[in-house]
Amino acid sequence: MHVLSVSSLKGGVGKTTVALGIASAAYARGLRTLVVDLDPQCDATTGLGAIGEFNTTCADVLRKPRHNIVHNAIVASSWSKIQPSKTDIMVGSPSVQLSDDPSPSVREMWRLEIALSRVEDEYDLVVIDTPPSINALTKTAWVASDRILVVTEPSLFSVVAAERSIRAINDLRKQVTSRLKIFGVVINRYKPLSREHQFRVKELDEKYPGRLLPQKFEEKSTIQQAQGAARPIHSWPGDTAKQVATYFDQILDSLLLDLTSNVYDEAKEKSKGSRRQKKLARTTRGKKMENLLAESPDPIELLDSVTMPSPVDSAKSEAAKDFDRLVAEAATEIDPNDDVKSAANAKKS
Ligand SMILES: Nc1ncnc2c1ncn2[C@@H]1O[C@H](COP(=O)(O)OP(=O)(O)OP(=O)(O)O)[C@@H](O)[C@H]1O
Ligand SMILES: [Mg+2]
Repeated sequence: MHVLSVSSLKGGVGKTTVALGIASAAYARGLRTLVVDLDPQCDATTGLGAIGEFNTTCADVLRKPRHNIVHNAIVASSWSKIQPSKTDIMVGSPSVQLSDDPSPSVREMWRLEIALSRVEDEYDLVVIDTPPSINALTKTAWVASDRILVVTEPSLFSVVAAERSIRAINDLRKQVTSRLKIFGVVINRYKPLSREHQFRVKELDEKYPGRLLPQKFEEKSTIQQAQGAARPIHSWPGDTAKQVATYFDQILDSLLLDLTSNVYDEAKEKSKGSRRQKKLARTTRGKKMENLLAESPDPIELLDSVTMPSPVDSAKSEAAKDFDRLVAEAATEIDPNDDVKSAANAKKS
């Protein structure tokens, strides 16, 4: 499973549009895709045709990233009615705002990563749509991500916001997780004839050499029409939709190439030496049982990292149910990214 956050610290630049476009490219390619809607406005949820009342949402997942809560918060998008696909959505909720603390703890920031480790075998790609601010929700998304795509318009304020985003991502990499990388910066709402836009594009290219994606999305009503009908851009008729869809295909291609050719190597990161580097190197997703056994002398820490079996499986023995309960308790009480020592202390208390 690969995880991409689509972000900008400025509102309305096209984060949701780009997140849904990449999900659409993955849909067209038959990838098992999960869109996580961390924005209290819930636009990604609406754009994927998941409309209605939901008992369990991202807000619950961020409070308690338990196996059953994570699964209950995920629904199938209406896109799969157009063409058979596994394009799911972890539904958004206005109440997710309650988790948007301006100064989240490290433990809170790792909660989405823990949640995604519960469905690790079920998806090839996760796309997280984030709100336009740098509080807990965005940080939680970034900490759970392998890559971040920064969206910007070619205007002064948006370029400044893109710079702030990149600085904040780099800070988080130094403070919380060394896995995090910027995939690139993508320009939306480009007007090729605008001198100002041409200037800003050049400015971004000079500032972030090699990071600015060659695909620039122009202002097109087709994009809004497809969104309005809750349809993937890949299923929308016409040449404009085809051109936009091709750009998203190319972006998905280079994302997958980047992810598969620069695979995060936790062991290598840990071998860099200092205690701090070792801590920054730790993740929850991507763990194999044998690696966990080799590196974790603490069984509670191990339990917390394991993808839990479903608690609704009635065929389970009592012993298996006890195991589930123990794992579920450990999952809510202990942060797998804390030290082994602090995990053991938490268990004792
Ligand atoms: N290239 C485009 N052409 C035409 N309309 C666009 C384009 N990109 C985005 N839009 C429209 O602009 C509006 C804002 O886009 P979007 O919701 O994707 O931005 P956002 O960054 O997610 O906003 P927010 O910060 O509120 O979450 C939407 O109505 C969307 O349909
Ligand atoms: Mg949005």
